[in-house]
Amino acid sequence: SVQELEKIFQDKIDNEIRIEPKDWMPEKYRQNLIRQISQHAHSEIVGMLPEGNWISRAPSLKRKLILIAKVQDEAGHGLYLYSAAETLGISRDEMTEQLLSGKAKYSSIFNYPTLTWADMGAIGWLVDGAAIMNQVPLCRTSYGPYSRAMIRVCKEESFHQRQGFETLLVLSRGNEEQRAMVQDAIDRWWWPSLMMFGPHDSESQHSEQSMKWKIKRFSNDELRQRFVDMIAEQVKLLGMTLPDPDLKWNEEHKHYDFGTINWEEFWNVVSGNGPCNKQRLEARNKAWSEGAWVREAAVAHAEKRAARKKQ
Ligand code: ACO
Repeated sequence: SVQELEKIFQDKIDNEIRIEPKDWMPEKYRQNLIRQISQHAHSEIVGMLPEGNWISRAPSLKRKLILIAKVQDEAGHGLYLYSAAETLGISRDEMTEQLLSGKAKYSSIFNYPTLTWADMGAIGWLVDGAAIMNQVPLCRTSYGPYSRAMIRVCKEESFHQRQGFETLLVLSRGNEEQRAMVQDAIDRWWWPSLMMFGPHDSESQHSEQSMKWKIKRFSNDELRQRFVDMIAEQVKLLGMTLPDPDLKWNEEHKHYDFGTINWEEFWNVVSGNGPCNKQRLEARNKAWSEGAWVREAAVAHAEKRAARKKQ
């Protein structure tokens, strides 16, 4: 019976046995994973845009090579994740259609503009730093294909974070103008980075079930706190500050206290009204329609090859 199947399923989860594509799973587990993995995949793909904006303006050949490699990595992450989601019975075309129509969510963070070169450093350090904090536990997520994809993603993300920090470190040892540029980038990216972890636990509708199924291993607020604790120390190495007057070490809790997140801004961005939402979707739609000939050519080529084989 379904109840027996559910019990076997939950026992596997409790015993840290991965769920694989052909195993029985509750429909809600499948749907929840499709939701999370596809949103994650879309985030990687849309996430190429803010940084792609700076490839043609990187300050040196070396910086340009690093940035191109990083943006290509994001494309790769998107592809592993779309593949992982496909094992759950949704097609790549369906997911693409959900993204292009604006129906699908992707991370709020990619709806902010990249105004200066220092933003490339801040994205690597803060945005990819937040991504790693959230994604390392996903290497142990209960669904096999997702957990395996995350291992490689996390390795690449750690390189991204280090290159971001190094970019800022070099700038922070530069002239007044360069130092001001670093501080300005940190000021603009700090709060949106904290929002990446999602709403407060009390507002997080999926957390309880996702933790029970070990899709998530830690809550939104737990991971956000770890991130604050890490960055509050690292920022000192740059000789910069975080834009939060309430940020303060709490000796009793052994954590940094921090100020209140602007949740109105968060929900505004999530619901499509952030600074760049429209621009991001337009860019994806344009790329999709301009790439139509490539898809048609690939299909025609595959058909010709198949026909040749039959002869
Ligand atoms: N941006 C956009 N939407 C968000 C964000 C965010 N930062 N945080 C939460 N949401 C959405 C959720 O998708 C959910 O919406 P839905 O019900 O329509 O799907 C709603 O807000 C409520 O949030 P939660 O119940 O907390 O959702 P969930 O349990 O899925 O937790 C989280 C959100 C932490 C982002 C989780 O989905 C996750 O760990 N995802 C994998 C990592 C990921 O996607 N990272 C993307 C950015 S990193 C990068 O691409 C470099």
